[in-house]
Amino acid sequence: MVHHKGSPADVIPLQYHAQMLLDDRRMGAFQAAIGRVVRPGSRVLELGAGTGVLAHFAAVAGAASVIAVEREPSVYQAASRSLAAHGDDVVVVHADARSFTPPPVVDVVICEMLHVGLLRERQVEVIGAFLSSYAGPPPAFLPCATIQAVQPVAQDFTFYGYTVAAPLFQDPSAAQPRTTPLAPPSIFQSFFYGAGALPAECAADARFVVQRDGELNAVRMITKNLLTEEPAPVEWLMNYLVVPLPAPMRVTAGDTVRIRFAYRPGDEIPELMASLYAEVLSPARSG
Ligand SMILES: C[S@@+](CC[C@H](N)C(=O)[O-])C[C@H]1O[C@@H](n2cnc3c(N)ncnc32)[C@H](O)[C@@H]1O
Repeated sequence: MVHHKGSPADVIPLQYHAQMLLDDRRMGAFQAAIGRVVRPGSRVLELGAGTGVLAHFAAVAGAASVIAVEREPSVYQAASRSLAAHGDDVVVVHADARSFTPPPVVDVVICEMLHVGLLRERQVEVIGAFLSSYAGPPPAFLPCATIQAVQPVAQDFTFYGYTVAAPLFQDPSAAQPRTTPLAPPSIFQSFFYGAGALPAECAADARFVVQRDGELNAVRMITKNLLTEEPAPVEWLMNYLVVPLPAPMRVTAGDTVRIRFAYRPGDEIPELMASLYAEVLSPARSG
């Protein structure tokens, strides 16, 4: 399991929680999934409760008990106040989820400590800690799985005549005229939280056949979470992350390009960037 020293870089201030609350795709997907997975009488544990909104959805769905764990003091206080104001029967615990001892039986674990690429946040580490200290019957995890893909792109990094290659986020439901996909995405990772080993790293060594001429200067990271499979899948496609390549290259339709990277879940974006490597394997014939 990965351990990071020093002050946590993954602190999310309350004003960014408001942005999460304003994200209709995220909120709608979680509300729908919690309404399907949490049954009257369910014992629910939420790790990383934030403002408490998902614990609220669980209480509304009729959970018999909801325990919500949050590490950040001001966020914990906001969650405690709001859940109490709603009259929700939720026990809010101020603790680090990695050292929290779960109750003997949990039916549903809700954990949304997710960031595109599984970067920055400690979803994998927190669920790993839960699994190593929990001996009860297997709970349902929400989300239950994460699928990740990478795509070579030509990205316009010029802003008001000023060019700077900086990582950027994109709403996947919006048109992205600054991005030209050069090949379809390639899935490099896919795993379930409640079954099998959790990944120790996020790594790709993918080959793509380029579909159009352009400048390969970035990759797009794509992360989709399966919130639940039953009775019907509820998915949450996260904002894309476009990451510049250290050395852009011209590519031609028909070229095969290789893209590699490796980092640990919870690492920062610069650690992905430092490991990012691309090359043209077999140039297309001219003429
Ligand atoms: C992405 S937010 C999601 C909050 C909430 N579940 C929601 O969906 O709105 C993740 C939350 O996990 C909390 N968190 C991060 N690491 C934690 C840890 N080790 N233990 C407990 N909470 C943690 C953060 O402070 C933040 O409030």
